[in-house]
Amino acid sequence: MKKRLAIFLSGRGSNFISIHKNILSGEISNAEIVLVFSNNKNAEGIVYAQNNDLPILIIDHKNFDDRKKFDRSIVDELSSYNIDLICLAGYMRIVSEIIIDSYVNKVINIHPSLLPSFKGMNAQQQAIDYGVRYSGCTVHFVDHGVDTGKIILQDVVEVNSDDDSSSLSEKILAREHILYCKAIDLFCNDKLVIAGDKVIVE
Ligand code: GAR
Repeated sequence: MKKRLAIFLSGRGSNFISIHKNILSGEISNAEIVLVFSNNKNAEGIVYAQNNDLPILIIDHKNFDDRKKFDRSIVDELSSYNIDLICLAGYMRIVSEIIIDSYVNKVINIHPSLLPSFKGMNAQQQAIDYGVRYSGCTVHFVDHGVDTGKIILQDVVEVNSDDDSSSLSEKILAREHILYCKAIDLFCNDKLVIAGDKVIVE
């Protein structure tokens, strides 16, 4: 049985598009996207989902007075889709325990830094400001913290003296598109084993 993926996004959606293309090409096997969710009806990624006839769910967080009520409504809507894996792909909302506890070890995220460095927003600018020589991207399981969950895969890019946040973001994004697809393929083929705080890739 193919693993049933929900993609959560808030904006451009280039990671989502890469995931979809890699499923179509067979680079990611044993997976299908059964839902594209966004808190932002104007997200560019949603236009791609529409053009590719993928099921879409939009729930605007601004209609809720707290995060938990918002996440509860997402979990309620998701229940009929039998989701095996939620992929956060540029989803710019903090995910509360309402979602995490309903999908234990089934929510993954891509973050544009080598975690545990540079958590949170503007990770690429944080790396430039700190003066690191290397940065990169991390795919990790999502837990109750912000960007603290168990690391699945990482990739490294060099930070040159003339890099700014924009050039570094571009370099990292090219690696994100490859790394996220690899991690999803591993998950969907049961190659990720959780051992305590670590993930072993079989
Ligand atoms: C990506 O760089 C992703 O790593 C980052 O947002 C961008 C989304 O781009 N995510 C975070 O910073 C999460 N903390 P995309 O919409 O084109 O995939």
